[in-house]
Amino acid sequence: MTGKAQCAVILRVLPGSTRESGINGFSVLVAVCLRTAGAFASRRTGSGPRQRILMTTFQRHSGVMHCEGVSLERIAKVHGTPCYVYSQSAIEDALGAYQAALGDAPHLICYAVKANSNLAILNVLAKRGAGFDVVSLGELERVVLAGGDPTRVVFSGVGKTVLEIERALALGIRCFNVESEAELSAIADTAQRLKKIAPISIRVNPDVDAGTHPYISTGLRENKFGVDIATARRLYRFAAEHAALDPVGIDCHIGSQILDVAPFEQSIDCLLGLLGELTASGIALRHLDLGGGLGVSYQTDAPTINEYIGVIREKLAGYSLELILEPGRSIVALAGVLLTKTLFLKQTEQHHFAIVDAAMNDLLRPALYGAWQDIQAVTPREGVAHDWDIVGPVCETADFLGKQRSLVLQEGDLLAVMGAGAYGFAMASSYNSRPRVAEVLIKGNDMHLIGERETLSDLWARERIPNEAAS
Ligand code: LLP
Repeated sequence: MTGKAQCAVILRVLPGSTRESGINGFSVLVAVCLRTAGAFASRRTGSGPRQRILMTTFQRHSGVMHCEGVSLERIAKVHGTPCYVYSQSAIEDALGAYQAALGDAPHLICYAVKANSNLAILNVLAKRGAGFDVVSLGELERVVLAGGDPTRVVFSGVGKTVLEIERALALGIRCFNVESEAELSAIADTAQRLKKIAPISIRVNPDVDAGTHPYISTGLRENKFGVDIATARRLYRFAAEHAALDPVGIDCHIGSQILDVAPFEQSIDCLLGLLGELTASGIALRHLDLGGGLGVSYQTDAPTINEYIGVIREKLAGYSLELILEPGRSIVALAGVLLTKTLFLKQTEQHHFAIVDAAMNDLLRPALYGAWQDIQAVTPREGVAHDWDIVGPVCETADFLGKQRSLVLQEGDLLAVMGAGAYGFAMASSYNSRPRVAEVLIKGNDMHLIGERETLSDLWARERIPNEAAS
């Protein structure tokens, strides 16, 4: 292949795989079953053959996959494999798409740090005016270290400790997203003790089916997140009467990798209903936080940021509320790949296995959720394609990055697992005593190592063998 060509083939039909269910496979099935005639219904692919969707960030020059201006071959040569590679422009563009779609409507985009918490990425987003959604002291301190503005931080999560509440109050964060009565009391007590006023919003669980994988569905009554409407009503009254609490907003987050806008619309309706009641009773909230959750096109078509924001703006027209969003995946997922090298090819009677140097400890999503992410050769070769199971060296049958991927492969070939910028490195571990991999950020022709590869001694640096004589 010569010249510049898109990496992924638009809507190329893949051989159907029944073994690898995938988040998208699951979502599509559920979405098809539940869908009412909605604005996005016609773009759905249904439960037919699997399809690949165009990804524009990574492109081929003379056949070789590049991230912006740098070839993945060169990145592998300089930084080794496995490694994560991110495009700075793609991250900036995604944030920019949210900002442009919201225009002059009052808003704050609080990037969900959990999706990818590398300091350099937080710094890129902070410089472009992002706020942040954090769920731990570690995430909060990362934001501060990366140059983020604490007054643009919302703090989510069901289990905030007193230490976390104290630090957030000292930094003057924008809002605590409160998930239970007990947590609200802890925040009130801590704020009172420190002579502060805590800005709070109650996370309402709207009991909406987001049609996504059960492990990342959070807005159903049976989930541990948020509180029901009746409890929310009571908690707002308590907050309004408490001198150390300032009820400033209302929020929800119904799940992740959501491929249909209808559940978001239902959630907004639910929040606006309660908001109306509260306003009538004299509790005037200033913002509505819809959480994160917009899915990306790993395999099947997802609503664009523009479409998603368009629907939200329509719903909120006529309200003088600030809109807060907490997108994670839709900012970074398609901006990253996991670059890995083929170690060995192994054929059994039933399978062609390509054993690569990345594994489930580096990218957990396929093993944990059965998630499907495209896998492409960095430099495709001519020859006979086989359906390969791309597996890692970890001693678990769940250790696979993809199954039945049609590729022409030889040992030593580089592969790119696409759409790996979100919940990739962030969920990595050193299981099997495998050091966590390097992270590289590309901007134009520049390459920056933003995460050093762990060394072997890093693996046991915190461990101690007790001295028997001393005990
Ligand atoms: N806000 C809250 C309160 C959240 O819990 C989450 C994600 C987000 C925002 C960001 O959601 P996003 O825009 O990224 O969908 N590890 C899973 C995803 C877990 C999402 C957890 N919460 C995966 O790899 O699919």
